[in-house]
Amino acid sequence: MINSLRGMNDILSDDYERFTYFISAATKIAQRYGFHFIETPLLEETALFKRSVGESSDIVGKEMYQFIDKGENDVCLRPEGTAGVVRAFIQKKLDRAGGIHRFFYHGAMFRYERPQKGRLRQFHQFGVESFGVDSVYEDASMIMMVSDILKELGIGYRLQLNSLGCNDCMPNYREELVAFVRKCEGGICEDCVRRVDTNPIRVLDCKNGSCQELYIGAPKLINHLCSDCGNDFNTLKKILEDNNIEYEVNTNLVRGLDYYSKTAFEFVSDNIGSQNAIAGGGRYDRLVEFLDGRATPAVGFAMGIERLMELIVMPEVKKDGYYIGALDDEAIDMIVKIAHNKRKTDVVAIDYKTKNLKNHLKAADKVNAKYCAVIGSNEIASGTIWVKNLKDKTEKTVTLEEF
Ligand code: HAM
Repeated sequence: MINSLRGMNDILSDDYERFTYFISAATKIAQRYGFHFIETPLLEETALFKRSVGESSDIVGKEMYQFIDKGENDVCLRPEGTAGVVRAFIQKKLDRAGGIHRFFYHGAMFRYERPQKGRLRQFHQFGVESFGVDSVYEDASMIMMVSDILKELGIGYRLQLNSLGCNDCMPNYREELVAFVRKCEGGICEDCVRRVDTNPIRVLDCKNGSCQELYIGAPKLINHLCSDCGNDFNTLKKILEDNNIEYEVNTNLVRGLDYYSKTAFEFVSDNIGSQNAIAGGGRYDRLVEFLDGRATPAVGFAMGIERLMELIVMPEVKKDGYYIGALDDEAIDMIVKIAHNKRKTDVVAIDYKTKNLKNHLKAADKVNAKYCAVIGSNEIASGTIWVKNLKDKTEKTVTLEEF
């Protein structure tokens, strides 16, 4: 028997209901915030992710589904959505057009990670990217949007915030941090030794407990922000407070992708185990220029749909539509015809096997139909059909025309 690959799941039945329920709730809210749908390819040039997500990140360094295609192109399955949207934004010359452009997307992402609960190799994200607004109010708006989506779905969260500074304040901080970490060398893990040379701030979110103990006294970027970044961070906190959105400042929140500057945030849940990040994002004002576009401020986030599906409180399933059954073989052709007509306006389930009335009623209940309609040779002879309303339990025989 051939099974799906490790870390890659089928989505069907109840899971599919949850999946589509999430997409429609998130889409509705993104549209309320003025965002428009964008679809980008699953496969992109590997260089796109190397230059944006960053060669020093785990995603690019260890987790890409990368291969040479039949035309000798170095390509990979997208590990995240931002890079492709930025590529499309530049390719369509929207950076040159100026103005504000806001997009949302959803789809499969691929990371060759070690699979565990909440961590898949093929997973789905819902994300948004906003281009052209440098105001921190847009950052706050992103956070409010995630909060609105989570509230709509009945999902509790903790919001963690940090500022990653800018080109003015980050380099000085980085030097101080490197000097501090070098003093700990000998005690830190191999990954951190590598990070000191490639992307030092990533040591701060090392998952190794003994490294974390050594970093307790590490300098904090939040204390080294330039006045511009510091003011923005304070304004962001004030906007969130004014709008009753609770947050925690986590000075170790650095995110796993290299393109961020200034605002970084993550929404975590305490109810899904160790892989607890349900959404993450931040500002990336340098990325458009870095990918050869005209410098454009940008900010966005993405939510992990599989992790959210564990948490969604689904509304009660409403009885809806029709179930139509045949009491004897003679009626089968008839129910196909009736269903074909009824499906012009309603959801209709039919069963091609004849059953007695009791079993048809059970089957109708199972598919959550509002009406169970059955027909046998007697009804065919009189041109009628028997219908029971499964909500108010009333039943009647009506003519086929009326039905
Ligand atoms: P990210 O934090 O790498 O950010 O991913 C966003 C969300 O995707 C995570 O919070 C998590 O819920 C989900 N996720 C990530 N990896 C996995 C996995 N292996 N299995 C299941 N779920 C996963 C980004 O991808 C950025 N592009 C977000 C962004 C958009 N920043 C600015 N704009």
